[in-house]
Amino acid sequence: MAVGRRRASVLILGALVFGAAVAAFADGDAAAGRKKAQSCTTCHGPLGIGQLPNTPNLAGQPAIYLVAQLKAFRSGKRTHEVMNVVAKPLSEGDIEDLAAWFSSIEVTAKPRS
Ligand code: HEC
Repeated sequence: MAVGRRRASVLILGALVFGAAVAAFADGDAAAGRKKAQSCTTCHGPLGIGQLPNTPNLAGQPAIYLVAQLKAFRSGKRTHEVMNVVAKPLSEGDIEDLAAWFSSIEVTAKPRS
């Protein structure tokens, strides 16, 4: 009885830890992110394709990568005049949503010839 209860609580704890780990990367709401991304479109394009030669594509990038970059810009660990200013006011939720939106965009690649 006591052993059974302990095993059950280990299982529940495991499920909680696993759930939290998954949630940390799957939290974003792509639809909300699309709305929040309106201010990004001048440079990154409405569908995450860079509009200027020095602006990278965001479409189809893994959410985990986008989250890491936006957090690095926000903290100043990654420096860029514009992106440090853009990322400064973003909340955790904003970053998750923006990452969910840009990573949800499907991209295809093919050679020129
Ligand atoms: C005024 C132009 C401009 C705006 C507006 C802008 N960005 Fe950027 N962004 C850039 C440039 C330029 C870079 C390249 C930075 C570098 O060279 O390190 C960049 C880089 C990034 C990167 C890193 C991409 C990579 O491949 O590492 C992310 C993520 C990003 N921007 C997200 C956003 C989001 C989200 C918004 C809107 C909330 C936004 N940006 C708004 C110009 C802009």
